[in-house]
Amino acid sequence: MSAVLVLNGPNLGRLGRRQPEIYGRTTHAELAELCRSWGRDLGLDVEVRQTNHEGEMLDWLNAAADDGVPVVLNAAAWTHYSYAIFDACAQLTAPLVEVHLSDPSQRPEEFRHTSVVTPHATEVVAGHGIDGYRLALEALAPR
Ligand code: DQA
Repeated sequence: MSAVLVLNGPNLGRLGRRQPEIYGRTTHAELAELCRSWGRDLGLDVEVRQTNHEGEMLDWLNAAADDGVPVVLNAAAWTHYSYAIFDACAQLTAPLVEVHLSDPSQRPEEFRHTSVVTPHATEVVAGHGIDGYRLALEALAPR
């Protein structure tokens, strides 16, 4: 089975409790279990991580670049302003799928309409809630 990293950024550890009207009621632990199970069905060995610390996310992305591992990335708020995340994504060698539970482009806050991840993404999945992670994994599945 080929390895895939699912990397979730700040505040996503509170999924299920955080603004459920926007992000839904599934917890991060449940999301991680779903991703591993969808991965198994698709022939992918999925590891899910979440961090509120940008440096930790950068270390994970740098390691993924070194190891040539495909990444599903929800950089959360960093998506909209972190040039360090932009630079880290630029170094990835395997496919990168950007995922968001909501559709930031349709939300009222202007700052959400920019993504530093999109220029480096092979695919963007937004606005499909938790199911977006399944769609992202499908995009990385061996054909
Ligand atoms: C998000 C959208 C971002 O704008 C926001 O900052 C998040 C979550 C999403 O999954 O919809 O934290 O990435």
